[in-house]
Amino acid sequence: MRTYYMAGNWKMHKTVAESVALANELKQALAGAKDKVMVAPPFTALAAVGQAIKGSSIILGAQNMGPDTQGAHTGEVSPLMLKELGVRAVILGHSERRHSYFETDELINRKVLLAIEQGLDPILCVGETLAEREAGRLEAVVGTQVREGLKGVARGDLPKVTIAYEPVWAIGTGKTATPDDADAVHAFIRSVVATMYDGDAAKALCIQYGGSVKPDNVAELMAKPNIDGALVGGASLKAESFVPIAAFR
Ligand code: 13P
Repeated sequence: MRTYYMAGNWKMHKTVAESVALANELKQALAGAKDKVMVAPPFTALAAVGQAIKGSSIILGAQNMGPDTQGAHTGEVSPLMLKELGVRAVILGHSERRHSYFETDELINRKVLLAIEQGLDPILCVGETLAEREAGRLEAVVGTQVREGLKGVARGDLPKVTIAYEPVWAIGTGKTATPDDADAVHAFIRSVVATMYDGDAAKALCIQYGGSVKPDNVAELMAKPNIDGALVGGASLKAESFVPIAAFR
């Protein structure tokens, strides 16, 4: 049976106490979840959420990571620090990091390689802006993000990597790519990965969709052959909206 990967990106929301309260609700409600579920609280709540979800199958994720293991890098967080807290997955190259903090493909690629080296499973985010889509540049933009983001990733390490397709115009806007549109971009991403590696690698790759995923659109998105999960922002902030997404079937 197909397994989906449902992830909640809490972004810059929730105090430690609020994070723990949500984690406790999710632990209880998702005890029998069929699919892989991950939550990415803010850095400050990682330790407490890690404790709260202990003994459950929920994976602890981070929303970002520095590109080095240690050193004079004020404000950065090392993969070693994340691992110490029980983090197993890390979101990299989110469009908010690319656009608000000017992260480049080259920097994101360094992080992807370091995450793999350190035993953290990266979720590499890609996606075009509305202007890029309207200018007919979707494939050029997303193709470059995929190729540059995966540069140097060994074939044997590819199963550790998830790609999240998040069209920037669909994030937090209530606009969702139609399931057919999203599926077409996912198929395109698979074709890029097939040219970089091989068809089997492309077929096995987990590709999440992100951008206004809600309880009422999750099933039709997941029904598409190339959509293997969801990376959820706003709707992951409450158990009442994330549980029906994470346990949509
Ligand atoms: P929304 O679900 O709020 O649109 O956010 C998507 C996202 O950016 C997840 O990383």
